[in-house]
Amino acid sequence: MNTEALEAASLLCNLVNAPDLLTWLGVTESTPPADAKSALEKARKRMQSMQGNPKYKAASTHLIKSYRKLEELVADPAAYHAAVTGERVASQVPLLELAIDGVLADGVLTPDEEAFVRDQANKLGISDEVYEKVLAERCAVRGVTVPEARSGRAGAAVATMGPTTGTFRVERSLGASHRTAGTGWWDESFTRMLLGLVPADAKRAIDLSCGLGWSALALLPERPQMEYLGIDATQVQVDMAKRNLTAAGLADRVALQMHTPFGLPVPDGAVDVVLCVMSLQSVKDTRPLFAEAARLLSPGGRMIVVEPDSLGQQFWFDRSLLGFNDLFQGLCERVDEVIRLGSGTEDELGQPGIALGPELGRRMAEVGLEPVETVVHAVQIAQRTTFPAFARRLRRRIEALADAGRLSETDGDLVAVEKALAKLEADHPATRMGTGVHVLPLFGVAGVK
Ligand SMILES: C[S@@+](CC[C@H](N)C(=O)[O-])C[C@H]1O[C@@H](n2cnc3c(N)ncnc32)[C@H](O)[C@@H]1O
Repeated sequence: MNTEALEAASLLCNLVNAPDLLTWLGVTESTPPADAKSALEKARKRMQSMQGNPKYKAASTHLIKSYRKLEELVADPAAYHAAVTGERVASQVPLLELAIDGVLADGVLTPDEEAFVRDQANKLGISDEVYEKVLAERCAVRGVTVPEARSGRAGAAVATMGPTTGTFRVERSLGASHRTAGTGWWDESFTRMLLGLVPADAKRAIDLSCGLGWSALALLPERPQMEYLGIDATQVQVDMAKRNLTAAGLADRVALQMHTPFGLPVPDGAVDVVLCVMSLQSVKDTRPLFAEAARLLSPGGRMIVVEPDSLGQQFWFDRSLLGFNDLFQGLCERVDEVIRLGSGTEDELGQPGIALGPELGRRMAEVGLEPVETVVHAVQIAQRTTFPAFARRLRRRIEALADAGRLSETDGDLVAVEKALAKLEADHPATRMGTGVHVLPLFGVAGVK
């Protein structure tokens, strides 16, 4: 279908507040083209007669100006309907992806969870066929194998489940183990970045916040001689990491333990790599952690830390959202400050924050580690979508920030960003497709003892 014609129809629908052109004309996808054309002609006459009314001026002017394009669309109502439905579904897919990611996070899909995400898909107007495809794609992105039963429909999955367990595992595929995606940002290129910082001959690594075990899943298949000790302050994370690494066949080279990243019962100089990925924000004072890393490293060993620079993130939708980015940065600065000051740590170099990336080198130097390599890895999400769908993503980021900074609903920076987003939503045609982009820089820094 002609994109310009579709955009003209989308703008008209926005002006007359209609879901699509056919609905506005009172016809359907099975209406004969001649009848649809005559409905359009009638609408034009009606709007022309109302052109003097300021309320209808913009819509009637646009209708008259783009009449030929609209005529092209109603010449094939079924094709137009298919194009609009396709766009609508596409704009809902990111929401379905999020729901699926949520249930796949632990590598297990229970019947309830499966029914839940399928139900979400139905509510979003997404067909079973598209749902199955999106589920398969998300499994691939997260490095999990879709069991045979899942390549079919729900009935097939239920039929193959053991009657006593009621659940089945989504097996992690060994081959795909380093395409892990804990939260969606950890993709293949992030793994490559990390591998570039870890020396090829590294033998013993300690991860000071192993989380679900993503770094071990990423590194160990490529470093066959490496042994890995993962610690995490949360037992649930340790248990899940154990499960993930066992499923990936890596259990014989890993040890996992619940522990804070200080005072570890490990001798001085015992390891040649210390990892710490995306976790300093929850450490009240980072100085003891860096000091512990320096103690654990053998001479020549490397500490590798990855942290975001949340003040550097940017959003675009077709043209840049300059004003919005400024306000969003204001919100990030505020949250950064709240987290730093809330830590109760006097020394700025110990304070946690949401933009530590550019400061990592200085923090390493403080404990005698020489920062030798800094890599900036841009997490980029770009999607063809509608503005409302893009705005939903933005809103979730705003909410996550507000939660991290424990901001109240009436916080000035928060309110300003929310207002700006609402205004942008009102200004953008609801159904027009565009390119939404979010870029977040992550700093990977290696310091040598
Ligand atoms: C965002 S996750 C990152 C996990 C992992 N490094 C990754 O990149 O997938 C942050 C992790 O830090 C852990 N954590 C939180 N506070 C901590 C602390 N004080 N010391 C050590 N780990 C902590 C959490 O349990 C969580 O697993």
